[in-house]
Amino acid sequence: MTDRYVVIGNPIAHSKSPMIHADFARQLDVDLQYCKLFSPMNGFEQTVKMLQAAGVKGANVTVPFKQEAWRLAQKPSAAVQFAQAANTLRFGTDGIEADNTDGIGLCTDLNRLLQLQGQQLSGATVVMLGAGGAASGCVSAFKDAGVAELFVLNRTVDKAVDLAVKANGIGLKAHGLSLSSECSVMTSSTHKVVLVNASSSSLSGQAVPISNEWFQSACLAYDMMYAQQPTPFMKQALGVNPEASVADGLGMLVFQAAAAFEFWTGLKPHAADTLARMRNTLQIKQEASA
Ligand code: ATR
Repeated sequence: MTDRYVVIGNPIAHSKSPMIHADFARQLDVDLQYCKLFSPMNGFEQTVKMLQAAGVKGANVTVPFKQEAWRLAQKPSAAVQFAQAANTLRFGTDGIEADNTDGIGLCTDLNRLLQLQGQQLSGATVVMLGAGGAASGCVSAFKDAGVAELFVLNRTVDKAVDLAVKANGIGLKAHGLSLSSECSVMTSSTHKVVLVNASSSSLSGQAVPISNEWFQSACLAYDMMYAQQPTPFMKQALGVNPEASVADGLGMLVFQAAAAFEFWTGLKPHAADTLARMRNTLQIKQEASA
């Protein structure tokens, strides 16, 4: 029988996840169906119950339901417990298992891009802009990837400090700062620096108000957002240094999907091949690499 999966959101029409999972299934010759499912704002729990009753095997969860998904989880992974948010659910006989694959998706893409420079994420300093849901979803994966030190810079500094305290609590050395902080705070950082935009600034078409030194210190500037044209954050990085390595978040999207696919089926797709096909099909410009 065909295994069925869905991605639940509100809105959901824009989701590229069905395309990505269809590509994985084709590659691996797996018989599965993956659909978009719109849930009313106050109907997420009912939607999940209906899926379980209908024998659906699992679901991806996107905005604005990731926190509700965490609350419904009977077996949350460590990443879910840290972020208090889940993007992947598996419906089994012993209830709802939940994972958060956003962080592993980001770290896999960062490693792919850093490898182009002969580098890796392990031992790096990460400077992350933003301290909301997207940011906190990635912190435990930074720890697992061997990140040496994390600087969280946020418009609302209290949220940056709270996230840094939580990161320190799982053994990742971290600092919470305001966006106006000077780059010289990275005193002990002789490491390579990776700058990640986890704020929603690019959604509103805005540059992030940080000093140019942060961009100059980084060997890679990565925006979790993607669009057909380079995002405002990518343009900002290239404005500081036209030779900079910059990337959008399409790779993160594909690699988080690959981790979800593996969580459900036990099979590992060739996600880098899928990413290349997605860029081509969606006509999303290649990230620039120095
Ligand atoms: P998400 O789930 O996308 O992370 P969120 O939890 O609402 O959404 O968090 C949005 C993040 O982007 C926050 O860190 C927010 O900063 P505040 O905590 O100060 O609100 C940040 N953000 C949003 N717009 C921004 C902008 N124009 N410049 C800088 N940071 C911005």
